[in-house]
Amino acid sequence: MADKLRIGAFASGGGSNLQAIIDGCEDARIDAEVVVLIANKASAGAMERAARHGIATERVRVGKDLTDEFFAADEQHVKLLADYCVDLVVMAGYMRRIGIGVLNAYHHRVMNIHPALLPSFPGAHGQRDAVKKGVKVAGCTVHFADEEFDRGPIIIQAAVPLVAGDDEDALGGRILKQEHRVYPQAVQWFAQGRLTVEDYKVRIEPAAPAFTSEDGVIISPGLDMA
Ligand code: GRF
Repeated sequence: MADKLRIGAFASGGGSNLQAIIDGCEDARIDAEVVVLIANKASAGAMERAARHGIATERVRVGKDLTDEFFAADEQHVKLLADYCVDLVVMAGYMRRIGIGVLNAYHHRVMNIHPALLPSFPGAHGQRDAVKKGVKVAGCTVHFADEEFDRGPIIIQAAVPLVAGDDEDALGGRILKQEHRVYPQAVQWFAQGRLTVEDYKVRIEPAAPAFTSEDGVIISPGLDMA
């Protein structure tokens, strides 16, 4: 059997998206394994989750954007990813910019999840900004990352309708549920070698179902993993 795809994860927070990916790998819905978690904060809940699953953890302080410390962290990230023989980088609630060193070493091999329908509402408060603007449909996006925050070719999106009385937390909770469905699926498509990027557009071959629809939520392209 061919070696499994090796995932290096980056996280800053609680790590529920990381957990969804670890679970997918452990129950063989994703043909991959998470081999290292890199966190920028020692307090990140994601660190504990990784350790519980026997996954190596590394903490790299990043410093302010585009400072010497930031560039040093980028170099350290590149080295760590090479040391752990990582094939795919997943940003799972990683609230920092990913450095150009990592992006160059992993062209179209760095994924990010964002709790909004990109290109609308990039930034740290996608759900709050959507509620404030009174949108009727919000959601989440998995995309290949580039050097800008929350930008890059889109792999999969889930559209989540707003309901009366929605606030950031209520909407955010429903979006998070969908994040845990679409991120493992995007990673599995990558693991299966089905994703290509051409002219900024992601193609999935063989094609996935056009969409999945359930309780008013639409996921496009549709899910084809269990
Ligand atoms: C998620 O909405 C994620 O997209 C955002 O932070 C939230 C928490 O993520 N960036 P997690 O539980 O740390 O994966």
